[in-house]
Amino acid sequence: MKPVQTLALCAIAIVLPGLAIAQAAGSAASSGVYSPAQAARGQAKYSAVCASCHGEDMAGVDVAPALTGGTFAGNWKGQTAGDLATRIRTTMPLDNPGSLGAAASADLAAFILSRNGYPAGQVELPRDATLLQQVKID
Ligand code: HEC
Repeated sequence: MKPVQTLALCAIAIVLPGLAIAQAAGSAASSGVYSPAQAARGQAKYSAVCASCHGEDMAGVDVAPALTGGTFAGNWKGQTAGDLATRIRTTMPLDNPGSLGAAASADLAAFILSRNGYPAGQVELPRDATLLQQVKID
């Protein structure tokens, strides 16, 4: 094989997986944008760090709002998974904001989506901010 052909094949090998991720990310939450394993990681984190305020069932406690049902729909429909993950990463947990990384924030967003009836899919919700912005909460 000529070097130029090898190069072309390498380029395809690098670009194709990237396209697959971008395609999965540029979609609606109702099409399955997180994996079951990711939601499970988010659940573990939620129980450890968030449930004390928002409640184990996400129904909200005192001033901490519900993260499910009409409250969630009213606040988040039309926004993106990126908006949700960024809100979590930069402002939560309220008593220690900024302590979660991008990966944990994406996992938590996945778990919250799962509790709001959005189905699991094959791919993980990306931690990359640009890709996350392409996932609409529909
Ligand atoms: C110390 C209590 C406390 C903890 C712990 C906490 N939250 Fe919050 N959270 C709040 C309060 C109070 C609000 C509403 C006021 C505000 O946004 O600052 C809120 C708001 C939110 C919102 C916005 C809800 C909406 O619909 O506008 C999200 C999403 C959220 N929290 C997620 C989380 C996640 C995920 C965690 C765990 C990493 C977490 N919170 C931990 C108290 C808390």
